[in-house]
Amino acid sequence: LAHPYFAKALLEWYPRHRRDLPWRHTRDPYAIWLSEVILQQTRVKQGLPYYLTYISTYPTVQDLAAAPEDEVLRHWQGLGYYSRARNMHHTAQQVVAEYGGRFPETYAELLKLRGVGQYTAAAIASFAFDEKVAVLDGNVFRVLARVFGLTQDIAAPASRRVFQVLADQLIPAEAPAEFNQAIMEFGAIQCTPVNPDCLFCPLQNQCYAFQHGMVNELPVKSKA
Ligand code: ADE
Repeated sequence: LAHPYFAKALLEWYPRHRRDLPWRHTRDPYAIWLSEVILQQTRVKQGLPYYLTYISTYPTVQDLAAAPEDEVLRHWQGLGYYSRARNMHHTAQQVVAEYGGRFPETYAELLKLRGVGQYTAAAIASFAFDEKVAVLDGNVFRVLARVFGLTQDIAAPASRRVFQVLADQLIPAEAPAEFNQAIMEFGAIQCTPVNPDCLFCPLQNQCYAFQHGMVNELPVKSKA
C-alpha cells in the first residue's frame, strides 16, 4: 500500500512542479478565501486576472464589504455564476459585522460563512491556519481513486466519507497546507483526467490504477 510513502512523494514532487500563483504567497485568510471563491467553477488561467483585480481593488475584507454592490458585480463580468459574487460580497459584510473583520480561524467556524462549504473551509483552515484538515475537490478525488484503487462513484454523496477518511489519514501533521496544495496541484498537472503523465509519475510503482491498467477507469463517476 502506498500509505506511508504517499505524502513524502507528493511533498517532494510539489516544489519541483508547482505553478507560481499569487495566492500561494500569502497566509491572509481573506486573500485565500477570495482566490477559492473565484476558482470554484473556474480554471486558474481564467480566474487569475479576476483575483488580481479584486485583491488590488479591495485589499482587505473591510474594503470589499464597504464597496457598492454594483461595483463588486461589475468586476465579476465574464466569470459567470453571479450568485458567487453576491455571496462573496455578503460574506465580506458578515465577516466585518459578526467577526470584527477577522476571518474565523477553524474549519468548523469557517463553515458557518455563506458560500463556504467543506472544500473552501478546509482550504482556508489549512492554507491560512495550518489546521490538519484535508481538502477534497475533483483533483483530490481522482488522485486518491487512482493511487488507492477506490471504486466508489465520486458523484455519489455517500462516497465523500470514504475519501475524506483516507485523505485525513494521509495528511501529515507537520505540513497540512503544503500537502493539500501538493495533492491538488498533482491532480491538476500530473494526474490529469485525460492523458495523465504516468511515465514520469513518482507514484507509478505504488499506484493501483497504473499497476492494474485502470488509469482510464478511475475515478468512477456516474453521469447523473
Ligand atoms: N483551484 C482551486 N483552488 C486552487 C488553488 N488554491 N490553487 C490552484 N488551483 C486551485
